[in-house]
Amino acid sequence: MKIAVLKESDPLEPRVSATPETVKKFIDLGAEMAVEQGAGDDAGIADADYTEAGATIAGRSSAIADADAIFCIRGPDPADLSGAKSGVWLIGSLNPFGERERVDAYAKAGVDALAMEFMPRITRAQSMDILSSQSNLAGYKAVLDACAEYGRAFPMMMTAAGTVSAARCFVMGVGVAGLQAIATARRLGAQVSATDVRAATKEQIESLGAKPIFVEDVEGIEGEGTGGYATEMSEEYQKAQAELVSSHIAKQDVVITTALIPGKPAPRLISDAQIATMRPGSVIVDLAVEQSGNVEGAVAGEVVKKHGVKIVGHRNVPGRLAADASALFARNLYNFLSAFWDEEAKKPVLPEDDEIVQGVTLTRGGEVVNERLTAN
Ligand code: NAI
Repeated sequence: MKIAVLKESDPLEPRVSATPETVKKFIDLGAEMAVEQGAGDDAGIADADYTEAGATIAGRSSAIADADAIFCIRGPDPADLSGAKSGVWLIGSLNPFGERERVDAYAKAGVDALAMEFMPRITRAQSMDILSSQSNLAGYKAVLDACAEYGRAFPMMMTAAGTVSAARCFVMGVGVAGLQAIATARRLGAQVSATDVRAATKEQIESLGAKPIFVEDVEGIEGEGTGGYATEMSEEYQKAQAELVSSHIAKQDVVITTALIPGKPAPRLISDAQIATMRPGSVIVDLAVEQSGNVEGAVAGEVVKKHGVKIVGHRNVPGRLAADASALFARNLYNFLSAFWDEEAKKPVLPEDDEIVQGVTLTRGGEVVNERLTAN
C-alpha cells in the first residue's frame, strides 16, 4: 500500500493532509508513504520532518505513480493526477456539491474519489469527521479575529482610571463552530448569548454559561433534520426569528455567524438594515461567507465596513491555524483508513455496504455512485 501526500496547488491553502505523526502511524501499519516536496511548508512542517518519520520526499508525478491512495486537503485538478493508477483512492475535502464537474472528471479518469465531508454523523465516525475538527478550530479563530478587529476589550476591567465594560458577543448557529466560539468568547470574558434553529442547542448554550435567544411558540421550532443537521425553516419562523434577532443585535458589540444547511446556500441571518442599528466599531464575523454568507454585504476574503461596523469575511478560517488544522485533518484520515485496515494484506479494505464507506465514496469503477449526487 503506497500513500501519496499532495502539496496543495491552491495558494490560499496552507494545510497539509498528513503530518509526521500520521506518516509514522501509517508506516507502522505497513504502508509506504511518499510526500510531495514542500507539502508541509505552509503548515510549519519541513520535508526533513517527514523523512525522519520514514516518508520519502518526491516530485508530484513520482509521488503519485503506483500510489494506491492519494491524500489531499482540496481536490486537485483531475489533469494533475495523470499518471496515477486506475482505481486509486483520492481522499480529502473534495467539495462534491461545489465541484460537481470535477467529480465527473475523477470518475472518467478512473479515480475513486472519497469525500471526507460526506462522513456520516454517527458515533463510530466522530474521530474521522473533518467538518467537525475544522469547524472547531474555525469557531475559536473567529472569536480571535473579532478581538483583533474590535477597538475595545472583551473582559470587564476595573482599572485605576475607571471601568472598561465587557463586550457583548452573540453567536448565531450553535453547531461545532458555534459551541467553540461561545466557549472561547466566554474564556475571554465577554457576555455571551447565542441562537440556533435546533431546539436541542438551548441546553448546550446554557451549559457553556451563555444566554439562549430563541424563537418560542412557532410551528416547526425543533428545526432538526437528518444527521443532526438543520433544515430550512418555515416563513413564519424566519419572520419571528428576524424580529427577535433585530432587537437583540442592536445591543451587541460582536456577532459571530456560523449557520449552514448542507447542500444549500447558507441562510441569510443579518440584513444591512440590522447592521445599521449596531454601534459603530462593532464587529461581525461571517464564518459562512464562502457558502454565500449569513450577513448581507459580507465579502469573501475581505474585511469591509458598513455603517461603521466591520464585517469580517476571511476565507478558509481553519487554514489560519494551519498547523493544528493539518494535525487534526491528518488524524481524521488516519482514523478513517486504520479503522478498515486488514493486518494481513497490510492495507485497508473498504466494504461497499459499510455505512461510512457508502457515505464518503463519490466515484467507483468509472461511475459517480454517491446517492447525494446521483439523486440531484
Ligand atoms: P453546520 O455547520 O451544518 O451548521 C452550523 C449551525 O447552524 C447548526 O447548529 C445549525 O443548526 C445552525 N443553523 C442553520 N440554519 C440556521 C438559522 N437559520 N438560524 C440559526 N442557526 C442556524 O452544523 P455542524 O456544526 O456541522 O453540526 C450539526 C450537528 O451535527 C450538530 O448537532 C453536531 O453536534 C452534530 N455532529 C455530529 C457528529 C457525529 O456524530 N459524528 C460530528 C459533528 C457534529
